[in-house]
Amino acid sequence: MLKFDFFSYANSFFNCEEYNKFYSRKDYYIEKLNKSEMIGWTREIKKDLVSNLKTTAEYIKNNFDCLVIIGIGGSFLGSYAFKKAFSSYFNDQSFEIIYAGTTLSSKYLDELLKCLNTKNFCLNIISKSGETLETKITYKILKDALKRKYNEEELKRHIIITTDKFNGSLREEINKVQYKSFEIPKDIGGRFSFITAAHLLPLALNFDIEKIIDGYYDGKRLIDQGYQYAVIRYLLFKSGKYIENFCIYEENLYYFTEWLKQLFGETEGKNNLGIFPTSTIYPRDLHSLGQFIQEGNKILFETHIKITNVKNYVEYNGKSLHFINNILEESVMKAHYKGQTPSLEIEIEELTVENLSSLIYFFELASAFSAMLFEVEPFNQPGVEIYKQEVKKSLKEVS
Ligand code: PA5
Repeated sequence: MLKFDFFSYANSFFNCEEYNKFYSRKDYYIEKLNKSEMIGWTREIKKDLVSNLKTTAEYIKNNFDCLVIIGIGGSFLGSYAFKKAFSSYFNDQSFEIIYAGTTLSSKYLDELLKCLNTKNFCLNIISKSGETLETKITYKILKDALKRKYNEEELKRHIIITTDKFNGSLREEINKVQYKSFEIPKDIGGRFSFITAAHLLPLALNFDIEKIIDGYYDGKRLIDQGYQYAVIRYLLFKSGKYIENFCIYEENLYYFTEWLKQLFGETEGKNNLGIFPTSTIYPRDLHSLGQFIQEGNKILFETHIKITNVKNYVEYNGKSLHFINNILEESVMKAHYKGQTPSLEIEIEELTVENLSSLIYFFELASAFSAMLFEVEPFNQPGVEIYKQEVKKSLKEVS
């Protein structure tokens, strides 16, 4: 179960009448969202796809030492963040997944190649466009490594491509070479693709994806809260709070906040508008950025993600350590509120697969509503193209 409190530590920072005015437009924005061509992520996933994903995951587990995922942005963050959220801190027994494609570091790639040299690995390249520079470069390097070991026919056992149904160079490669493949539907953009093979295949190696899917669609009942959250963020922005700091109290959720940064950053950061998303891990960062948040420039608001109950019981002076962690969260909200930083709170009753998937749906909805309140298109990211053009131009100049 998820609980939301957007008022206790924030309502003095926005005008109630304005809130009511925007809140009364909820149905208009829901209708607007429903008319979008890019909301495939709200539609039910097909049963035969789910069984194909499960069978493929079994095939990978039974035949390989590890899976190497190549992808960037929305093509890797969802599954990465989700897996990390449930990983053991010191004793990770899960099926090994190595993520590549987010860096052009020679050191990283060189060490990765050496590490893979002794492993029997399967490669899953994930790219909706099939044209992303970092993904393409990494794919070529790792595929060449496979080619040094296997012939064309053997290679087919080692490569899985997840891409757009019709377009892009990866789709052409599938058509030519008949690699095993999965589709990212036309009406689902990268950062909204959690409920597609892009994320569900890697997750199927270590999770019951049916639980993930059930939890995700259960998030649909949070449409009201999703809209409320979007409205309050928007009103906070209008009162000069230009930065949203996602605060977590469990380090396992760090990559979940990375996912959030991408989701909100790319969805609403357009036309010189939007809220800049950032994150802190508490209590660690109370001893660094905490000073700025308490007494520095008043441009921030915070969204605290609290886990109410945990299974791990550690005692400190007759009390549960988790109880103390939760007291800390409440105290931080109070202190920051006194320092003119408002706080919104999202409570996860227990960190389960279902609850985290529901939260993913909630945030996807909220980010789409938020972009619509800013009157920008939620489902594109034209700004991301500009650096790519610069790289291409510079590469041409030097070659
Ligand atoms: O959300 C998005 O659409 C982007 O972040 C993309 O996921 C990212 O740029 C990678 O694109 P692609 O999957 O086409 O390689």
